[in-house]
Amino acid sequence: MAKADFNDRMLSLGLARVSEAAALASADLIGRGDEKAADQAAVNAMREQLNMLDINGVVVIGEGERDEAPMLYIGEEVGSGDGPAVDIALDPLEGTTLTAKDMPNALTVIAMGPRGSMLHAPDVYMDKLAIGPGFAPDTVTLEMSPSERVYALAKAKGCKSKDITVCVLERPRHVEMLNELRETGAAIRLITDGDVAGVIHCAEADITGIDMYMGSGGAPEGVLAAAALKCMGGQIYGRLVFRNADERARATRIGIEDFDRIYTRDDLVTEDVIFAATGVTDGSVVSGIKREVGYLTTETILMRSKTGSVRRMIYRNPTK
Ligand code: FBP
Repeated sequence: MAKADFNDRMLSLGLARVSEAAALASADLIGRGDEKAADQAAVNAMREQLNMLDINGVVVIGEGERDEAPMLYIGEEVGSGDGPAVDIALDPLEGTTLTAKDMPNALTVIAMGPRGSMLHAPDVYMDKLAIGPGFAPDTVTLEMSPSERVYALAKAKGCKSKDITVCVLERPRHVEMLNELRETGAAIRLITDGDVAGVIHCAEADITGIDMYMGSGGAPEGVLAAAALKCMGGQIYGRLVFRNADERARATRIGIEDFDRIYTRDDLVTEDVIFAATGVTDGSVVSGIKREVGYLTTETILMRSKTGSVRRMIYRNPTK
């Protein structure tokens, strides 16, 4: 089916249902210390709901390669088969540890675009740099040092470097970068997990207080974050990070030839997409699942890049 037939407007509510279902399924596993069970519940529910959509879908960002993920593996065909040919990028539970420990910003995430619209990213790290909307292209770049990025963004924003807040995953691999950032006087919001939310925070800097995201995290999460920024505005740059020959082989298998390439947002996601994320635990992007006797309530952010529309939807669901 031609790309023009990707009916993003009609499919968007269906996509929201998929991310809501995954979040609801993980509700009873929030704060129970079992990451695997929480992830599995979200995967099962997301897959079941996705297969109800009238799409001819292929998972391009999923739970892993076919031999390591029984469900929602990369290349799995999803949907009823009747409908537009689409690519699906998903993370049924972004922040499995956050969920198990009941810490902020765990989300269920899914993006959909016409076939061929999203980078097939291997399961390796990606060096990421993101800022929100309203800045000229290349205001900050991956080639700049961490401190140069802070000074460049402060100049563009018309503020001092101490007025910039940078979000970074707290990892030993980031110690050097953090030391350099400290020298600029910028504030650093350290997160323990969940860099899709970390990047999305830049798009709503007035609400979240985060101006820039940087550091390495999962490459698949980089594509999902790019899909979100394509809808909300903002820039993200990504460069794949290979630690060994096996990781390079993974990339080669899925057709990546230039290992040093810097991908822009529109290289990671080349056409208009729709994006949905539902809060599992409370966060600044969306609220987490709320419980009351007989009901669970979720909040979902649902966006379309074609129009730049951003909806926040509250769903009150009777428990069985
Ligand atoms: P999971 O939900 O799969 O646990 O991923 C969480 C996450 O923090 C991602 O947001 C991030 O991209 C990645 O893990 C970072 O990887 P690592 O923990 O190896 O630094």
